[in-house]
Amino acid sequence: MKILAIESSCDETATSIVEDGRVVLSSVIASQVDEHKLYGGVVPEIASRRHTEAISQITEQALKDAGLTMDDIDAIAVTAAPGLIGALLVGVNFAKGLSLKYNKPLVPVHHLRSHIAANYIAHSTLEPPFMALVVSGGHTHIIEVKSYTEYSIVGRTRDDAAGEAMDKSARTLGLPYPGGLNLDREAKDGNPKAYKMPHPRVADAPYDFSFSGLKTFVINTVHNAEQKGEEISVKDMGASVISAVCDCLVDNTERAAKDFGYNKIVLAGGVSANSVLRARFEEVCKCQGWDLYMPPLNLCGDNAAMVGAQGYYEYMAGSRADLTLNAMATMPIDKSF
Ligand code: KG4
Ligand code: ZN
Repeated sequence: MKILAIESSCDETATSIVEDGRVVLSSVIASQVDEHKLYGGVVPEIASRRHTEAISQITEQALKDAGLTMDDIDAIAVTAAPGLIGALLVGVNFAKGLSLKYNKPLVPVHHLRSHIAANYIAHSTLEPPFMALVVSGGHTHIIEVKSYTEYSIVGRTRDDAAGEAMDKSARTLGLPYPGGLNLDREAKDGNPKAYKMPHPRVADAPYDFSFSGLKTFVINTVHNAEQKGEEISVKDMGASVISAVCDCLVDNTERAAKDFGYNKIVLAGGVSANSVLRARFEEVCKCQGWDLYMPPLNLCGDNAAMVGAQGYYEYMAGSRADLTLNAMATMPIDKSF
């Protein structure tokens, strides 16, 4: 079964054709990074406009790359929530138009479910159940993935997402957007113990996170140093922030896996590209004898191949949308469309 998938939840317009949820026949990404870089972050209005400009052309490109036409497509999957509402609407409306014109079933996909599904593409034998850590620019969740379409949220951030904490720290340190990626690069040779970062815990919620204190710590330390005319080492501060974020992510996920009895761990989302996070999880899983699955770097960030993968399992579970489908800026992963 061949699915045409569309993703436009943030700053990448992406299309892909995926066969039976696991085989990527084509994948096209039109990134807007260079333009948002000028403003230090994603400008929602610009994102929507660029999606509108790119979407027809990259859909044609995905079909061409796969050597297919719309006649060969069995269903259309689209990211419908969560994300920037104006950006999501571009993909959702385009997908509705295609579904109507070509009379193909329409399958709405939850963005975080698709991040998890990126692992089904890379690891052909991976099947639920497992414990997932989903870390992106807007979300930080520990999730019990009970089946391809059943989820239970075990822990979440109470304030900033892990990616947001890294992005904002990077910005304070003068690094360009995308902050998390540049922080990772810059901090490679930094000393993670150079700055004593807070490691906040949420009382009575052992799997939850709180990252806003880390961001405030970086802002205050940088401002204090500026006032005193002292130098801040970007690589040492960067390494210290990344290390503190990873400590929290790894500790809570390890605890959740033990408490809930999982020996299979899956990482997902843009922040799962972080080199320190990947190394730490490799270490812990080796030590515990657990299986670890991580997306390859090209499937960590936003793409449509992961939407095609999850779209397949949603389709198999009977999920369909009609032309009343709307995009939603927020939606919990355990809720269905
Ligand atoms: O999943 P994603 O592409 O978009 C959202 O759904 O939010 O995640 C984007 C996030 C950004 O915060 C970005 O800075 C972060 O992923 N990111 C990284 C790295 N690469 C991307 N964070 C840390 N280290 C990286 N290597
Ligand atoms: Zn994402």
